[in-house]
Amino acid sequence: MSSIGRIRGFSDILGQEARKFRFMEDRAHSVFSRYGFRELRLPMLEHTELFARSIGSDTDVVQKEMFTFPDRKGRHLTLRPEATAGAVRAYIEDKLYSGGGLTKLFTVGPMFRYERPQKGRQRQFHQVNAEAFGSASPLLDAEMILMLWTYLRELGLTDLTLQINSLGCRECQPVYAERLQDYLAHTDRSRFCADCQERAQRNPFRLLDCKQSQCQELMRGAPSMLDSVCSDCRSHLDTVLDSLQQLGIPYEVNSGLVRGLDYYQRTTFEIVSGAIGAQSSVAGGGRYDDLVRQLGGPDHPAIGFACGMERLSLLLEDPGPEVTDFYLAVLDPEGFSEGMRICEELRRKGWKGEMNQETASVKSQTRHAHRLGARFCLFLGQEELARESITVKDMSSGQQSQCGKEHLPDMLRQ
Ligand code: HAM
Repeated sequence: MSSIGRIRGFSDILGQEARKFRFMEDRAHSVFSRYGFRELRLPMLEHTELFARSIGSDTDVVQKEMFTFPDRKGRHLTLRPEATAGAVRAYIEDKLYSGGGLTKLFTVGPMFRYERPQKGRQRQFHQVNAEAFGSASPLLDAEMILMLWTYLRELGLTDLTLQINSLGCRECQPVYAERLQDYLAHTDRSRFCADCQERAQRNPFRLLDCKQSQCQELMRGAPSMLDSVCSDCRSHLDTVLDSLQQLGIPYEVNSGLVRGLDYYQRTTFEIVSGAIGAQSSVAGGGRYDDLVRQLGGPDHPAIGFACGMERLSLLLEDPGPEVTDFYLAVLDPEGFSEGMRICEELRRKGWKGEMNQETASVKSQTRHAHRLGARFCLFLGQEELARESITVKDMSSGQQSQCGKEHLPDMLRQ
């Protein structure tokens, strides 16, 4: 019978890759909790409408990339393509604002987008996300970027660039939309891709984000958002940039940074790497001050970011093989229960190791201990059982000695 393979764009994460993922998750818990963030575990499946209303129905994510299907009762459900919409839903539904002040949440897990798979781009990928609700202060923007920067530093990543922009607010975005429409009125629309031709009237911002080269070429001369933002948005951005400078975080202002999701306003940012190919953005985020209100919640501003774990993993050094302290080779079937007892005692003292469950020769067990990378191979045969001792082989020097069972932990420690 033929075997069943993985779905295209989905991966099994194992070995060194799994250890890198564990490292990224552990660092996220450690760094984010120092900044007052609490963990939130969100459902993987949400109502499709949640994403259409938050990410925006004109975006590529909603139009082309969602895994959407009807459930048994015909309701439209979607595997989450990102975590912000779900976090906002939870914020509103679970009244996470009821304690007053800021609500700071982080979440880690898989996301799903039906994109063309390539290096750094999967259909199931993983994000580390952080979201802070309840303040419009530019100092919060700076602190979020500082926390992201600290996280990346603690992962050991330094050769990264922070790009930052402002996308304006509900007052100045319509002014910019008008300037864009003016520009488009003087451009030959038929040269845009079919999607852009369709979106030009409804949502001209999306033309700035199109990946098609002919559209990027046509939009090169478009007016920049930064030149159109109101004075409040300009001073908001200036305060963020000032704080970043004081915190020693280098940045590049990129007025072409538009992001692919509709909910952003004011500060938006990305962290890019020059070392991982075309999919160079390892993290992205920004303010979404209107989203909570638009989804039926209180008028609370918010800001967040997400890091792509597969892309970060491409930059992380190999963690090296897993350490195994011992391998216990039981050489006589009568020794199995005693062997299990010895192993358990060593594990309770914090040593990592395992034993055989089926008899095998000394030679093949020693080979297995080598394969595991065990520091010590312990032998338990008839002789050792009779003497209540263990033969200990130091795998790096090859030296072998006898040891009373009660002295085994001390011997391994030495
Ligand atoms: P995003 O820019 O769509 O933002 O995704 C954030 C990061 O996820 C990207 O920078 C990238 O590293 C990673 N990523 C995205 N798509 C893929 C893919 N197909 N394969 C591998 N990695 C991918 C968001 O998702 C926003 N929710 C971020 C945010 C949080 N904004 C505010 N709060």
